[in-house]
Amino acid sequence: MIVTDAVRAGASGLSRALQRMPLSAQKKIAPIADAVEIVSQMRDPRVFAALGPSSVRGLILQEGKQGRPTKMKANHEAHFDWDYPADHPKMRKLYERAKQLQWNGSTDLPWDTDVDPYNPEREILPQTFLNLDGFREFGYRLDKSEKQKLTVDLLRWQLSQFLHGEQGALYAAAQVTEAVQFFDGSLYGATQVMDEARHVEVFHRYLDTKLDKVFEINDNLFVVIDALMTDGRWDMKFLGMQIMVEGLALGAFSTLHKMTNEPLLKELLKRVIQDEARHVHYGVLALREHITTQLTERERREREDWCFEVAILMRNRFMAHEVYDAWFGGTSLRRQDWDHVVLHSTGLSEFRHVMFRRLVPNLRSIGLLTERIMPHYEKVGLLKYMDGRAADQITAEEMLADAA
Ligand SMILES: [Fe+2]
Ligand SMILES: [Fe+2]
Repeated sequence: MIVTDAVRAGASGLSRALQRMPLSAQKKIAPIADAVEIVSQMRDPRVFAALGPSSVRGLILQEGKQGRPTKMKANHEAHFDWDYPADHPKMRKLYERAKQLQWNGSTDLPWDTDVDPYNPEREILPQTFLNLDGFREFGYRLDKSEKQKLTVDLLRWQLSQFLHGEQGALYAAAQVTEAVQFFDGSLYGATQVMDEARHVEVFHRYLDTKLDKVFEINDNLFVVIDALMTDGRWDMKFLGMQIMVEGLALGAFSTLHKMTNEPLLKELLKRVIQDEARHVHYGVLALREHITTQLTERERREREDWCFEVAILMRNRFMAHEVYDAWFGGTSLRRQDWDHVVLHSTGLSEFRHVMFRRLVPNLRSIGLLTERIMPHYEKVGLLKYMDGRAADQITAEEMLADAA
């Protein structure tokens, strides 16, 4: 155990002390408290070694928010095979399918649609998404126009995180394409790189030309992207991007696709979901075999713990603090008050529900949800998703219909 009870006690003491500090001090200390709390919860020293440095870069130094490009040191081996083996028929099939289903982000979407995010006839996001009256409890009563604006800002934030995640997916897919041990996997991977480039293109265009604002990357998303980009092991990249980030994003895309009445966004999300379903399917295929036949038990356990930590990071901490900062930073509404409202919002609960309903069966299917880790998932209320169908058992059409 690298983390002692004393560190854990220190983390909870810091969090209590934070609540008593003046607002300006809270703002400076909060990211450090977040980092200490996350690190203090890690049970496995190898997971700590893999996620710790990324937590410092993301949460304390906030490298994604410095207004300049971020350099991440990649360190992995390219896997050449001069025999060009046909070594994975299912991946080959996915490769063929992916070639047939390519689409053009600049001409295949109705970009001439007039998007008015405040048009009640075509509600871009229902106002029940965030429990807007929940702020009253803390002395903030929002009028009608403020409620609309806050809802639209939350959508901008959510789509911005999709966009930043897609940039991560673009580079991770490129790394995985050269590092994967199956030749058919490399061929398939190249189509995913193209898919992710298209996703970056369409999300950015939508935010830039229809919603006029892009939010900065969320610190916790930065941590996950940084961790998988800088890890030299190809399967960790796979796990991080194809299973965790893509798996969760797929749930989030489906929920938003179901909720929005704005036709351009609906069509954009539908197209992206069809691509993403392939990506997660690929991740499950590649990892199931690797994890169940190639890894030692110790290596498998490390990955099992890593996934649990990342799941918790994404579940508990994806709280739109960038929107809080823009709206309430410097006011008497504290970050924990904001978190309370977010946690008790119907729309956001639905988001989390669908995200984990997609993710947990995939973890089970690739061999990373064994009896050893189950009690931890049970404790945080995620085990109820255990019996769902994994990505290779469900089509994109079923996913769309399921979320509709
Ligand atoms: Fe994508
Ligand atoms: Fe993807």
